[in-house]
Amino acid sequence: MTDSALRWRICVDGADVARQAAELIRRAAAAAIAARGRFRLVLAGGRTPREVYALLFAGEHDWGHWELYLGDERCLAPSHAERNSVLAAALLARVPAGAAHVIPAELGPEAAAQAYAPIVAKAAPFDVVLLGVGEDGHTASLFPEQVLDTAAWTVAVHDAPKPPPARVGLGLRALRATREVLVLAVGPDKADAVGRWRAGADLPIARVTAGLAGHVLLDAAAAGG
Ligand code: 6PG
Repeated sequence: MTDSALRWRICVDGADVARQAAELIRRAAAAAIAARGRFRLVLAGGRTPREVYALLFAGEHDWGHWELYLGDERCLAPSHAERNSVLAAALLARVPAGAAHVIPAELGPEAAAQAYAPIVAKAAPFDVVLLGVGEDGHTASLFPEQVLDTAAWTVAVHDAPKPPPARVGLGLRALRATREVLVLAVGPDKADAVGRWRAGADLPIARVTAGLAGHVLLDAAAAGG
């Protein structure tokens, strides 16, 4: 079974997952800014968080004290529709220009990983790391077949099973350098990975979140219902 530090919530549907995620982020931001004068959030890639980003964008937040980072990026042109920075573009534009830390993935995996590592090292620990879950139990750009480097702040990926193959992302050390994690899983295609994770399988999502505080928000379909 997964550790008890994570609080699992089965939500009504994907929209409810998004609403609850946006509220948890809003609360974490208010607490972080009150305590430390800034809120450091790592954004998840993929499609699940899109509704969360739209809700955050529409909300009233102390944007001037937000800093946004990306958990991973696809090595595509900066304007490519499948870039995670494009999927989160509206939200990234809400914060001051110097506070939107996109990954220069157009440089290629190694160069982008090298360029982003000092930014991550300086920012850690984060306040919230937002994560999706892949059908194989991957998260960010950490995939089941990879040997996970526990020391590297960033990782260069060339053979990702989820296209595109060339990616760059935060390493295990960076994704775990956070006060809390917030994992989102929606839809029946995530049920197998979620079930294996809950049964104790050694998946990247399990390695990243083990022992950390935070929430897992999922709909009934992803929970295997
Ligand atoms: C990416 C993401 C990846 C994603 C999961 C879930 O760049 O693709 O970082 O880890 O979070 O694959 O993706 P969906 O939310 O699109 O199902």
